[in-house]
Amino acid sequence: MARILIIDYSKTGTGEAVAKQLASEIHADYYQIKPKRNYAASMWAAWDQAQAEMAAHQMPALVTDFPDFTNYDQFILGGPVWGKAIANPLRAFLEQVDFQGKPVAAFWTYYDHDEHYTESLKSALQNGNYQFGLPLTMTTLNQPAKLTVVLNNWLDKFEH
Ligand SMILES: Cc1cc2nc3c(=O)[nH]c(=O)nc-3n(C[C@H](O)[C@H](O)[C@H](O)COP(=O)(O)O)c2cc1C
Repeated sequence: MARILIIDYSKTGTGEAVAKQLASEIHADYYQIKPKRNYAASMWAAWDQAQAEMAAHQMPALVTDFPDFTNYDQFILGGPVWGKAIANPLRAFLEQVDFQGKPVAAFWTYYDHDEHYTESLKSALQNGNYQFGLPLTMTTLNQPAKLTVVLNNWLDKFEH
């Protein structure tokens, strides 16, 4: 049985709920990426902070209580879409970890624009073997029964 670690960054809890549901379905471990400084509660103020970090090429500092990745065979990375791409805390995390060529799948949550998500994730992944991804819009996220079906169908792709 593959040992799977689910890793996510979630600013307002949407992705965290998905990560925890996935973890409980497949009895996977769960790790949450934690920036040392919280982003503003307002989406637009957080957007200004994220843009300033991008402009300065300075990703946020993270709490570095990372798990031992050598204990896992496979990873699922979750996060919100920020600026149609991966969020800065996930980018900061990926700058610091090496997935040792192991398989990495992903899910992401968003409203309506995720055009650069897969490409930005692939280019930020160091030495990870990107497999497949699950885009989750608020329409699906707001319907628990539908979301459960979507997540369970997706999990069928994993060997566990
Ligand atoms: C800084 C920032 C940028 C965002 N950019 C986008 C975007 O480009 N496209 C989109 O559909 N939603 C965007 N959103 C909305 C988030 O994707 C949405 O709030 C998120 O999926 C909620 O997940 P979370 O609660 O796990 O953080 C953005 C939100 C923030 C805070």
